[in-house]
Amino acid sequence: MSSAGAGTRVGVLASGSGTNLQALIDAEAGGALAPARLVVVGANVAGCGAIARARAARLDTFVLEHRAYASREAFDEALAVALHARGVELVVLAGFMRLLTPGFLAAFPNRVVNIHPSLLPAFPGVNSQAQAFRRGVKLAGCTVHFVDAGVDSGPIIAQAAVPVLDDDDEERLRLRILAEEHKLLPAVVRAIAEGRVAIDVDGRRARIAPAAR
Ligand code: GRF
Repeated sequence: MSSAGAGTRVGVLASGSGTNLQALIDAEAGGALAPARLVVVGANVAGCGAIARARAARLDTFVLEHRAYASREAFDEALAVALHARGVELVVLAGFMRLLTPGFLAAFPNRVVNIHPSLLPAFPGVNSQAQAFRRGVKLAGCTVHFVDAGVDSGPIIAQAAVPVLDDDDEERLRLRILAEEHKLLPAVVRAIAEGRVAIDVDGRRARIAPAAR
């Protein structure tokens, strides 16, 4: 998917504070994202932290407010147009709080990944860290997965586990999971750009091949 020398063009979509975006920006600055290359950050919330971080990093940005569109399909079509216009080859959802339509996913087949703050398939949806804490699990964590039309249900690419400590509260646990997200997401983006991530024929299991030494 990457043309010789140019690297894989990555578009990041976000709705919130953008700390995962920042991790990608920092990884790129440190040479840890190549051959992936951040080319644009899109948001559905004007003024969100992610857009401010993107501008500070001098990345191209766009904001499409979903409320301005008559339907989910129309919003997603505008999103796909904005990403294709920048030559985006890999879409990374980094706190993007919208479900994507089959139409959008067909425009980027097996080229949309998401970071989720739980060990999927446990605790999909929102407030996963709080759900895990309240359920009393001993291992929480985060997952990077390919996106399908369901809620956090696509093939799992990588996970990082975070022990839940006896003296944790929801916020401390959320922050420790977030710290792992910031390592896992750039590593997976790089692996995809290096062509090391494959989905098995059953379409459910994704694997990362070891990096060349
Ligand atoms: C993260 O916890 C991510 O896993 C979830 O949304 C949150 C985004 O945080 N999908 P940030 O905007 O990257 O700080």
